[in-house]
Amino acid sequence: MTINMPLAGLWLSLSLHQCVGERERERERESARVRMAFHCTLHQFFGVTLLVLRVASVAMASHGIYYSALSPSHESWMRMYHRTYPNETVKEKRHKIYAENVKLIDSFNQNRHKNHKFTLKANKFADLTHEEFTKTYTNRGLSYYRRGGRLYRPSLPGNRSTPQPYSINWRDKGAVTDVKSQGNCGSCWAFAAVAAIEGIIQIKTGKLVSMSEQELVDCVPPQKECRSSCDCGYVTKAFDFVIDNGSLTTEHNYPYKGVPGACNFSLNSATFQTQAGGVTISKYEWAEDEKELLEAVARQPVTVSVSILDHKKFFHLYGAGVATDIGCGDDDEVNHSMTVVGYGTDQNDTDYWLLKNSYGSGWGDNGYIKMARGVDGGICGIIKEAVYPVIT
Ligand SMILES: *[C@@H]1O[C@H](CO)[C@@H](O)[C@H](O)[C@H]1NC(C)=O
Ligand SMILES: *[C@@H]1O[C@H](CO)[C@@H](O)[C@H](O)[C@H]1NC(C)=O
Ligand SMILES: *[C@@H]1O[C@H](CO)[C@@H](O)[C@H](O)[C@H]1NC(C)=O
Ligand SMILES: *[C@@H]1O[C@H](CO)[C@@H](O)[C@H](O)[C@H]1NC(C)=O
Ligand SMILES: *[C@@H]1O[C@H](CO)[C@@H](O)[C@H](O)[C@H]1NC(C)=O
Ligand SMILES: *[C@@H]1O[C@H](CO)[C@@H](O)[C@H](O)[C@H]1NC(C)=O
Repeated sequence: MTINMPLAGLWLSLSLHQCVGERERERERESARVRMAFHCTLHQFFGVTLLVLRVASVAMASHGIYYSALSPSHESWMRMYHRTYPNETVKEKRHKIYAENVKLIDSFNQNRHKNHKFTLKANKFADLTHEEFTKTYTNRGLSYYRRGGRLYRPSLPGNRSTPQPYSINWRDKGAVTDVKSQGNCGSCWAFAAVAAIEGIIQIKTGKLVSMSEQELVDCVPPQKECRSSCDCGYVTKAFDFVIDNGSLTTEHNYPYKGVPGACNFSLNSATFQTQAGGVTISKYEWAEDEKELLEAVARQPVTVSVSILDHKKFFHLYGAGVATDIGCGDDDEVNHSMTVVGYGTDQNDTDYWLLKNSYGSGWGDNGYIKMARGVDGGICGIIKEAVYPVIT
């Protein structure tokens, strides 16, 4: 929250016990005997001097809990994300975690280091600890998989010296379904694969159909390294299944449950293949470097896996902008898969990849993240498992 006040040429330093604002905030503060500190900054806008009153931090004397005036109150956030808690004990615990996260978010956004080209946000995960987020929403590190499975060398059609478009966005071109949510299941590999399949089918047939992740979760045998399909998995194994099977059914026919179940192949009706003009995935190919990735993304959405090491919570609480120093893990491991659905350059000349994530639209930029493009070796290993399905 930024309060613009027409109090020219004034610096204010206030110490108040109570704040104007929404009623529930008032109540929270009253009950907590909150002390507030205002930090004020003077700005010049178009010759008009405005006092920008920044309520930077509100320290609660007794518990040291941080209340923010820049991020929503925990109560408003709960309404925004339809979060409820079973009882007051749980709520209090979550409230503390929320306050800690919001403190981090506010301080990050206020002191944006010039290398940071992104902002954090009190997104749908703002009441989770780092451990909770990590355990549920990224997989443990898997060695990357290019050497195993079926390795298809890239056979990029066309001409490598052909200039590629300056930017591309398959979402705007209608080849990307709405952002989905993997829930409390580490099935990012299935979501990443499905988004790429949905994309190439739309590009080839003109039909955008939401396809089934649950069929992959249930029917692709879990990797031996993984306790279950909700623990971890490989995107290429999902493609292998679709290639071997000759089909993948629709989301409608085989809806997402977010828990591994018995493979129910009777749900895989042939209707979709008929509707989509009989297209099937015949193979997949790898992009080996950022140039090949760009060429591939210029043709279709491409799945990638990244190595996130999120102790700073930048991925957890990502809001918008180009994730430059997001926090990357080990070079030899990846622990999250997403789908690159575009690339471009923002107003500040920062090149990015546009990725569709599977955390729902309440995370990031409506469910998407922009990650830096042109980073040596690819940001967080983004080109290590860049793979796309091919329809021939
Ligand atoms: C509150 O709910 C949690 C989770 O359901 C439960 O473990 C805990 O015992 C409950 N506490 C009280 C005081 O009811
Ligand atoms: C590739 O493109 C360049 C420039 O457009 C052209 O001169 C060359 O003949 C092309 N090569 C092939 C194999 O198509
Ligand atoms: C497709 O997968 C299902 C489930 O694993 C299996 O029952 C079926 O035989 C497979 N079909 C083909 C053609 O591979
Ligand atoms: C498969 O799905 C169908 C349709 O929902 C259901 O009738 C059937 O019982 C399921 N089979 C198994 C083995 O779960
Ligand atoms: C990413 O992978 C590492 C293992 O390589 C793991 O320790 C870590 O918790 C994972 N997730 C995040 C969000 O850091
Ligand atoms: C561009 O940079 C300016 C100044 O650092 C910043 O305020 C603005 O938000 C940036 N725009 C984008 C799209 O990142």
